[in-house]
Amino acid sequence: MKFFVDTAEIDQIKELNDLGMVDGVTTNPSLIKKSGRDIIEVTKEICSIVDGPVSAEVTSTEADTMIAEGRKLVTIAKNIAVKVPLTWDGLRACKTLSSEGHMVNVTLCFSANQALLAAKAGATFISPFIGRLDDINLDGMQLIEDIREIYDNYDFETQILAASIRTVNHALESARIGADVMTAPPAVIKSMINHPLTDKGLAAFLEDIKFTKQKIL
Ligand code: G3P
Repeated sequence: MKFFVDTAEIDQIKELNDLGMVDGVTTNPSLIKKSGRDIIEVTKEICSIVDGPVSAEVTSTEADTMIAEGRKLVTIAKNIAVKVPLTWDGLRACKTLSSEGHMVNVTLCFSANQALLAAKAGATFISPFIGRLDDINLDGMQLIEDIREIYDNYDFETQILAASIRTVNHALESARIGADVMTAPPAVIKSMINHPLTDKGLAAFLEDIKFTKQKIL
């Protein structure tokens, strides 16, 4: 499973990238706002750190303008994936940009039918939002499962990018179901290492070696 990090915070991206945990980055207008940075500048900086796909989202709602924005975004770096919303205009932009050979991430996906349409429009990635479905008492994980089944039935090449991941269980279940990629905030990726038995076991090992007064260095 590929790990994308869902942030525009440079320090956080660098920290995880140095550990080999970053196969790509996703941003969106809210994350750009949070960073306080200029969208073009911060995206360029991210692309200079990360080799894998870096999603940058369009800011308009009409296909022609989305296509123009997408064509500008892809000049930032070779690894830009243009992110477009799951609307008819977004799918039109997806079709055009993907036909031109650009990576396209179709975002704000909340149903398997939407994911089917995105795959037919040539999306490189489909981003189903797990957390936001859970927020309204629907089953985000079921959506990942449904899309996996449909894409496998017809050998669609569109990659399932599990998004709006809020918990380590979202990450685990996405991996079990077979999402191709998950994008998660840095804090969630960092929490995946936690286990009380690891802490307890390490404390006991350190105590025992101290007792023997042995040292390796
Ligand atoms: O990048 C989109 C997505 O991951 C948003 O997550 O937590 O704002 O629903 P969230």
